[in-house]
Amino acid sequence: MIEVHNIQKAFNGNQVLKGITCTFETGKCNLLLGGSGTGKSVLLQCIVGLMKPDLGSITFDGTVFTNNKVDIRQEIRRKIGMLFQGGALFDSMTVYENTEFPLKMLTPEMSREERRDRVEFCLKRVGLENAGTKMPSEISGGMKKRVGIARAIAPQCTYLFCDEPNSGLDPATSIKIDQLIQEITYEYNITTVVITHDMNSVIEIGDHIIFMHKGLKLWDGTKDEILNAQVPELREFIFSSSLVRAAKKVDEESEGGLEALANGPLSEV
Ligand SMILES: Nc1ncnc2c1ncn2[C@@H]1O[C@H](COP(=O)(O)OP(=O)(O)O)[C@@H](O)[C@H]1O
Ligand SMILES: [Mg+2]
Repeated sequence: MIEVHNIQKAFNGNQVLKGITCTFETGKCNLLLGGSGTGKSVLLQCIVGLMKPDLGSITFDGTVFTNNKVDIRQEIRRKIGMLFQGGALFDSMTVYENTEFPLKMLTPEMSREERRDRVEFCLKRVGLENAGTKMPSEISGGMKKRVGIARAIAPQCTYLFCDEPNSGLDPATSIKIDQLIQEITYEYNITTVVITHDMNSVIEIGDHIIFMHKGLKLWDGTKDEILNAQVPELREFIFSSSLVRAAKKVDEESEGGLEALANGPLSEV
C-alpha cells in the first residue's frame, strides 16, 4: 500500500497540489481521475521521486520515501515500474532491447541468459513474443504501449505507475491495454496507479478511484459507487460522458443498466 499524506506543490506561487491525502491499495488498480491540468501528473511525479513536494509525506508499504536516506529511497525506486505517457520507448533500440534496458540498469548482477529469459517472459506476457526484433517505428500505438508495460514489469516491480496509458489509442485498443494492466496487477499483486480522464477505464478497471479537481482530492471510492457520488464537480465530470449518461438513464428505468455497461457492450467493443 502507498500512503500519500498532505502533499503540496507550488510553481512560482501557483499552488498546483493543495494538500492531497490518499492511499493506493495493494493488488488493485487505483485510478487517479480528473480533468486536464488538475495536478495528476505532478502528484505522480512527487510520488515516484521525480519531483520534490513542498510539504507532505509518502510511504511505501510502511517505509517513508520522502526525505529519507538516499539508499532507502533508491531501494524503493528499484521496485517502481513506470509506463510513461506516449510510451517513451528508445527509438534506436529494438523491442527486445527496450525491454532489456531496465534490467541492465537496475540488476547488473543478472547474466545475459537470465536477462534473455526475463525479457522473453515479459514480451510473451504482453502478447509480443514475435516482435522482439522490431523497431518502435515499425509497430502500432497499442504495441508500443505493450512494450512499455513489458519494460515496466521486467524488473519485477512492486509498484506500477501508468500516466494516461490510453492516450492516442482507439477505444478498442484502449480497453485491451486497460485489461492487460489489470491482469498483471492481479497476477503479481502489484500496487498499480493509473492516471486517466477516461470514464471507460473507470468502468473497466476502477477498483479504487481517487477524483482530483484543481489540486484537491474531492472524492474516493469504487466504480460501483462513483455513479451515485454526490460531489457536484465529480458528477459534472462523469456526466459529461454521454455514454455514462445514457446508461444511468437505463439503470433508473429498468435497473441493471450500469451493470450492463460494466459487463456487457463495452467489454466487447
Ligand atoms: N514543471 C512545472 N513547472 C511549472 N508548472 C508546472 C510544471 N508541471 C506542471 N505544472 C503545472 O501544474 C498544473 C497541473 O499539471 P499536471 O499535473 O500536468 O496536470 P494533469 O492533471 O493534466 O496531469 C498545470 O497548470 C501545469 O501547467
Ligand atoms: Mg497529466
